This record gives sequence, structure tokens and C-alpha cells, in this order.
Amino acid sequence: MPLNDSPQDRLDAVRHLLTRHGQEHLLAFYDSLDTGQQASLLEQILAIDFEKLGILIEEHVRQAREYDLPTNLEPAPYYPREPYGAYDASEFRKIGEDCIRSAKVAAFTVAGGQGTRLGWNGPKGTYPATVVTGKPIFRCLAEQILAVERKYDVEIPWYIMTSPQNDSQTREFFQDNNCFGLVRSNIFMFPQGVMPCLDANTGKLLLAGHHEIAVNPDGHGGSLRALFTSGAIEDMRAREIEHISYFQIDNPLVKAIDPLFIGLHVGAPDSSGQISSKMVVKSGPEEKVGVFCRDGGAGGKTRVIEYTDLPPELTHQRDEDGNLRFNAGSIAIHLLGVGFVEKINSDQDRFGLPWHRALKVVPHVEIDTGKIVEPSEANAVKLETFVFDAIPLAEKSIVYETGRVEEFAPIKNLKGIDSPVTSHQIQSDRNGSWLESHGVKVPRDDQGHVQARIEISPLTALEPADLATIDLPKEIKIGNNINL
Ligand code: UD1
Repeated sequence: MPLNDSPQDRLDAVRHLLTRHGQEHLLAFYDSLDTGQQASLLEQILAIDFEKLGILIEEHVRQAREYDLPTNLEPAPYYPREPYGAYDASEFRKIGEDCIRSAKVAAFTVAGGQGTRLGWNGPKGTYPATVVTGKPIFRCLAEQILAVERKYDVEIPWYIMTSPQNDSQTREFFQDNNCFGLVRSNIFMFPQGVMPCLDANTGKLLLAGHHEIAVNPDGHGGSLRALFTSGAIEDMRAREIEHISYFQIDNPLVKAIDPLFIGLHVGAPDSSGQISSKMVVKSGPEEKVGVFCRDGGAGGKTRVIEYTDLPPELTHQRDEDGNLRFNAGSIAIHLLGVGFVEKINSDQDRFGLPWHRALKVVPHVEIDTGKIVEPSEANAVKLETFVFDAIPLAEKSIVYETGRVEEFAPIKNLKGIDSPVTSHQIQSDRNGSWLESHGVKVPRDDQGHVQARIEISPLTALEPADLATIDLPKEIKIGNNINL
């Protein structure tokens, strides 16, 4: 729309656009808004590509299109964790360490989710997560990055994707905490994109206020676009970064920079260095994690099928030894080649990630009354893209197994599975085993869980071997609080 249009021309054009797409209700309160609010609403409307959105509404709201499951799915092969055997872990670890030391690796955290399941009023990274001192997740990650910088004598830039909803709170938190000792100019934050929330019955866009369209973050798949549009990729190119270590904000035990994984991503013969993934063996068929699969036939692509999309017969299928056949659970840890992210962005129409729909409760303005309604059941479709849908876009993509206790202690829910209580136990279990590897006696119950609360700062040890020079207790007693 030409910039010199009069406000009335602009309004007429917007009205016409909305009418054409059956969304004219977005202007229902326009006349009662002040000038600033009117301009803001028009800007929000003009930022939407209604042609593309119309197609998505047709496919995901009106028709609620089923997930298109690839045929002939097989379990994806993976590099097993210790004991190695099938490959030379020390060789790949060295490749990874060289890559870190020569400043080719950046850390990247997706922290745009809203944390509604956790009931935490703030960015998830501000949640007190560690088992003894209650350090927030951002601090856990920052300490790891700092420790890696010291160990390899290098600077590791840290890219953090926020959302428009939590961006300023996240920035303030870093400012208030003096960036946890990291160099400020090595931290690059940017908000992810958003999608309008859609009425599940009509496909109409919802209003969050009289001059505000209801939106949701566009999924962690949006990070691949946001890395590009925010200038993060350009910043990486200027720093000569080649690989991005990608992880979610919800896992305080994640190895933010993992030499062996990086080495496999960069050096394994069946990796194109574009996108690689970590997995853990699923705890059971019902565990709510995506599963690594491979399309059947020669040249079959690796992909993650989300747990909600994997048919029950495959979810429960067992091999002749009684093990789950599709057992490789995705823990949402990846390595991305900088060139790969550029490639994906260079042709959005061809490489655009598929959209997934989720039915959610979204409070919104009722057009007839102008009042906000809080629905008691799901009323809206949220559309998101998933980062793992980029895996089949790579030429060759590897999967590497990590230990569940070593690296997967997510905090997603307030209670039950993946809650602070389960995360704390896994943290103590992992730290207990690190101490045991140095001869410390650690009390465990009959299921093998550590009966004490043990925290080890990454600044003390990034891996068990780093404890060799630390003064350790000989024995830990039931109920002890240990902070190293
Ligand atoms: C996710 C994965 C699942 C995996 C599991 C491992 C999806 C759809 N599923 O489940 O396959 O096994 O983690 O823990 O991802 N986020 C954003 N922006 C968004 C949406 C999410 O930054 O728009 C971030 C959140 O901050 C969060 C993470 O991505 O840390 C996970 O998103 P969530 O939607 O909660 O997925 P899960 O159900 O945890």
C-alpha cells in the first residue's frame, strides 16, 4: 500500500482486504479507538498475509487435515552411547573439540514458549531449577557456556530466541543478573514470529483486545526463520561460526556444547553437517516424545514423528527381543549447520516447514458484546511449525544416543511427569553417578535413585573427569544437601 495514502484510503483498503477474506470483524471496534490504537490495529492487520493464511485456515481449521504419515516407516539408525564399539568416539570427540576451540560453534536456546503448563509467571528460563540452590535455568546454561569458554579458551556466542510476549522480561533478567558473568556482546536475543489464533469453529481471527489481534508464538520451527530475519545468521557469519548447538529452555541438564555430538555432526560419514539430533531410548511406549524414524527404501530420509502422530500399532510395536521397535525418543537437541539455515531461508516456498494445529483455550473479545470471554474448553486453533521437520530437508542426518539421566531432566509441568520434582531427582541421580565414578559412596534406594540432593555447578565440572581435581566428600549420607 503506498505510503502517501490518506488514513481514510488506508482504512478503506484494509476493510476491503478483510471483507474479501471474511475477517471484517477485526474492525468491529475501530471507531471507538484512539488514533494510536487505530494505527496499531491496522499495522497488525497489514502484517498478515491473508492469502497464505486463508489456505492454512482451509486446511487446518475447516478441514482439520490429518497428519500425512509417510509410508514404510522404519526406526532410524543411531550412534549408540557408551560402550561405543561401532565407532571411534575418541576420534569424533577430538574433531568436536577442535571445532569448539577454533570458535566454530555457537549455542542457541529456544525460549519463546509460554510455560503455561508450568504455571510460572515469567519466562521459563527464570524458573528456579536446580536441586539445592534453585538456580534459574538461564543461569545453569550461562555457567555451562562460561565453563566451556574457560576450558577451551574461546568465546562462545549465545543466541536466545524469545517471543514478543517474554522478550523484554528476558532482557531485564539478563541485565539484572549482569549476564551471569558472560560477555554482554556475545549474547544475541531476538523474538520469534507469531501466528494469529483462529476460532476453531469459524476460522475467524480472534481479538485479544479491541485493538489487538490474538496471536501465539509460531513454534520452535519459527526459530529457523527468526535466526535469519533477526540478523543472527549474519552475526554468526561475521564471527565465522559454522555450527549451532540448538536446545530448548526446559532442560537444565542439557549439554549446551557437547564435543562428541559436534564431532559426529561434523565428521561422521553419514552426516552432511546440516542437522543432527540427540535421542534417548524411550522409557515406555506412552512416553510423550517424538520418535526418530526413517522412510523405507534406498535414500530414506530421517524424520521425527511427533508422539501424537505415530499410530498406536507402531508406538507399541516390539522387536523379537521384546524391545520397543520405535524406541528413539527425541529430546529436542540438535546441531544445525549455519549454511543449512541459510539454505532453508533462501527459498521459503520450497523449504517452508509444515504447519501443525493444536486446539487451545484462548481468551478473546466477543464481537457482539465487546467483552473478554474466558472459554472453559478449547476454542481456538494455534498453528505452529516444528524445528525437527527440517531434518528431512537435509541430505544426510545422523542421530546420536545420549543417556537419559546424563542429559534429560526437563521441567515442563507443575506436577507429575517432567516436573520440578522429577527433574530434581534426575539431577541428583546424575550428579551422584559422577561422584561415584570418583569413589564417593552415594546412598541409593532400591530403584537406584540417589537419596540425597546433589548439585554440581558446571563451573565445577562439565563432565565427570573434571571432578578429578576437586576435593570431594568420601561419603554422602541419606538426606544430605551437597552443593559443589
Ligand atoms: C517437545 C517436542 C517433543 C520432544 C520434547 C522433549 C514439540 C512439538 N515436541 O515437546 O518431540 O520429545 O520436547 O522435551 O516440540 N518453544 C519456543 N517457541 C514456540 C514453542 C516452543 O521457543 O513457539 C520452546 C519452548 O520454550 C520450550 C520448547 O520449545 O522450551 C518445547 O516446546 P513445547 O511446545 O513445550 O513442546 P513439548 O511438548 O515440550
